[in-house]
Amino acid sequence: MDNDRLQKLLASMTLKEKFGQLSQITGELYVGQIDEEMLETGPAYPRHILDEETIYTIGSVIGASGAETTNRIQAEYLQRSRLKIPLLFMHDAIHGYRTIFPIPLGLSCSWDEQLVQRVAEETASELRAAGIHVNFSPMTDLVRDARWGRVMESFGEDHLLSGNLGRAMIRGYQKILRDGRIAPDGVAACLKHFAAYGAGIAGKDYNAVDMSMREFFEFYGKPYEIALQERPKFVMSSFNTFNGVPVTASSEILKEILRGQYGFEDLVISDWGAVTELQRHRVARDGKEAAELALGAGVDIEMVSTHYLEHFEAIVKERPELLEDVDTAVMKVLRLKNELGLFENPYADEANEDEVILNPISLDLAEEAGMRSCVLLKNENEMLPLRPEHRNIVLVGPFARTRELLGNWACKGRFRDAVSLEDGIKQADGSLSVDAFGTLEACPKDVLDRCDYIVVAIGEYWEQSGEGHSSVKLELEEEQKQLVRAVKETGRPYACVCFSGRPLALQDIVDDMPALLWCWYPGTRAGSAVAKLLTGQSTPAGKLTMSFPRVSAQTPIYYNEYSTGRPANASSYSSRYQDCDIGPLFAFGHGLSYAQATYSDFAISSSRITETEDLKVTFQINNPSHYEYREIVILYIEDVVSRTVRPVREMKAYRVVPVPAYGSASVEMSISLEDLTYLDADLRKTVEPGEFRVYVNDLEHPIFTFEY
Ligand code: GLC
Repeated sequence: MDNDRLQKLLASMTLKEKFGQLSQITGELYVGQIDEEMLETGPAYPRHILDEETIYTIGSVIGASGAETTNRIQAEYLQRSRLKIPLLFMHDAIHGYRTIFPIPLGLSCSWDEQLVQRVAEETASELRAAGIHVNFSPMTDLVRDARWGRVMESFGEDHLLSGNLGRAMIRGYQKILRDGRIAPDGVAACLKHFAAYGAGIAGKDYNAVDMSMREFFEFYGKPYEIALQERPKFVMSSFNTFNGVPVTASSEILKEILRGQYGFEDLVISDWGAVTELQRHRVARDGKEAAELALGAGVDIEMVSTHYLEHFEAIVKERPELLEDVDTAVMKVLRLKNELGLFENPYADEANEDEVILNPISLDLAEEAGMRSCVLLKNENEMLPLRPEHRNIVLVGPFARTRELLGNWACKGRFRDAVSLEDGIKQADGSLSVDAFGTLEACPKDVLDRCDYIVVAIGEYWEQSGEGHSSVKLELEEEQKQLVRAVKETGRPYACVCFSGRPLALQDIVDDMPALLWCWYPGTRAGSAVAKLLTGQSTPAGKLTMSFPRVSAQTPIYYNEYSTGRPANASSYSSRYQDCDIGPLFAFGHGLSYAQATYSDFAISSSRITETEDLKVTFQINNPSHYEYREIVILYIEDVVSRTVRPVREMKAYRVVPVPAYGSASVEMSISLEDLTYLDADLRKTVEPGEFRVYVNDLEHPIFTFEY
């Protein structure tokens, strides 16, 4: 449909139809509760508002999936709607739709934008085949507090990495064609949750956020600013308040910053029920005021609550200036539907869906991504990988046999499609004798007597992280710690494999873990991915993107904290806890590999950086092993003296470097003057003359100093 026809369509709409396009509900009102798995239901809608005529003005549906289900809803809707504007279908496939990939916090430990983009591309293909047009992903909320259950959905504690991976994900979802349209197997991306949702006070979900604008623009806002360069079609406003104003009602956040400073021009959708929640925030006395505040702040589409539809006439009467915003937003919805080709063909191809869902390419990618998201945290005496003499393996623990390794927010992922760790190890090496038990007690004495190696499979259950799952206890369950100690008592060589949606506090058990492979939640091919690492068919090479606290109370904790006048040291009169060692148990950027590569031939192009001359840091990676893998290299700077206090370290560049077996790889990383800029106390971008130190894959020991 060309633009003229779209304009004519807009002109033909009643005001109610316009607000219908700016309202989103779940699909049961069209077809009833036809399929619990493929049709998620919403609240008890006020049927005097969503009556038999109004529901056929609605613009989009959330929570319906599958070609058959979405086609049934679409057909029912188009048959009854006056203008026959097709519905958009939206869903949350944050790490896959039916093929489930590692949780984003795990994916981020690959540091690989291309991998993340490929995961998004495969996810988009499955979503579109299943009749879904918009994905509520990526989430680039910066996180520093593992108590928050939604750290699993994030890309970790560094703002540059989070922004870049979010950008890669948007690119992968939207598959923008040369003419600027979303590809037929692409979906519109929705960047969320704008803004700073990850900074909820005390790590409590939905909690207030309060920070200086400098902290926001330097850190918490930066990932969105970077990801917005990839032009997602949607941004989702966040549940939290920001400096006293609910974001859903904040024109400072949604207009001045998001649209004004960050240049976003497309659609803002509220989070689930967030408009009506303005009443619980106690900034709106009723639904009408909530709707007026949200609409006035720049929330284009109301998700699930129905106050726009209920009060639009009164609101527009009192505030006719909003009509222009309404027309602008409705036109963006119509344009998106047109760009997706829905006016010509509003239906999904049910035959195609069977071809695309769980296709071998997606499943292979899920295994590759699963392997590359794992982080080898410890490996004393090269306890891993299994050696040729390790023939009889006992696998023990709550995660030994389970297929529940998808993680939370696993969309339409099914445990029955997943590979357990037991099956993964058996498939990885058929010559191994593998016996798996939930507990050590369940292992018969003769099996234990003949075993050469024990793999302890433990961690946090998938329901313990995700939305609404903030925790104050980040330790492993007591019985899991006892299991580790009991395995140690057997005197057999052993390693621990840990599944979780967040960093855990391991101080009181880590010394009993000679080898520790952190797997997050790897998804549908979890067991095969982890097995390939345990058996040495591939080496772990991931690096942490979120610091691990020693104990639960040592949160929030992050690598780029500001320096203080009393840096933490042995003295109690320094910035430390009297009852906890200094620093994280495992630091941001930490991760081992079986290759044990070394670095050499470090060089820097100059000892002085200028406006016109970037600095180049070069070095060699030397791989003495038979493993061909990707080494993650991370470069940090330290601004030695600055007028405004700077973080003790700032990550400025990273690379994922393919390293050949028994070979080496040359690496070049640049530092530009732009990298050294920061916001001063008055929010002015500045860079000061002075000395800077360079660190590579190490937060403690600088390798170079240069000056500006
Ligand atoms: C949830 C989440 C958001 C999700 C939305 C729709 O409450 O906050 O991330 O996209 O609702 O499911």
